[in-house]
Amino acid sequence: MRHEIDPVHCDAASAGLRPAEASDIPALLAIEEQCFPTDRMTRRNFRYAILQAKGVVLVADCQGCPAAYGVVGFHAGTRLARLTSFAVDPAHRGQGVARRLLAALEDAAAAHGCRAMRLEVRQDNAAAIGLYTAAGYRCFDTYPAYYEDDMAALRLEKPLP
Ligand SMILES: CC(C)(COP(=O)(O)OP(=O)(O)OC[C@H]1O[C@@H](n2cnc3c(N)ncnc32)[C@H](O)[C@@H]1OP(=O)(O)O)[C@@H](O)C(=O)NCCC(=O)NCCS
Repeated sequence: MRHEIDPVHCDAASAGLRPAEASDIPALLAIEEQCFPTDRMTRRNFRYAILQAKGVVLVADCQGCPAAYGVVGFHAGTRLARLTSFAVDPAHRGQGVARRLLAALEDAAAAHGCRAMRLEVRQDNAAAIGLYTAAGYRCFDTYPAYYEDDMAALRLEKPLP
């Protein structure tokens, strides 16, 4: 019997998590384009995050290709880590990839000595707010007109163990 490989399906258990490399940047830009109409990470932003910034950039590979990524920054003088960008390719959503990638980023921040993770999310982004709330994030503030289209941001925080 012939077994077809589904080119899209890739659940959380089979997605391989690893640090991003500069050679991933074209794939990460493609995910970015699919996921965000405004406020996108640029090639330069990715290069800086991967090669120079203090922090961690993780990729979830599905069948050898990046299907999701997350960027966390660490900052001198504070034990707060900041999740600055996070996205799952639309073809790979709803399978737990984001939940697993977020947990791995939190583990990396905790291992670095951070006491909490913070992030901003668009007030109208129900999927992301659902993800973060289910993972234990709580809203502690808002930034009005934070995004390019003037949408407000919710500021979320989760204590890390
Ligand atoms: C938000 C996003 C990362 C979720 O990725 P995903 O891989 O589909 O999420 P998961 O399958 O891991 O879901 C984990 C949990 O998140 C929540 N969630 C995911 N999609 C949701 C949706 N559409 N509505 C409400 N909650 C949702 C649920 O609690 C879900 O758990 P459940 O399946 O047990 O109910 C994805 O939709 C995405 O990349 N969106 C565009 C980019 C973006 O908004 N990034 C965040 C910027 S702050």
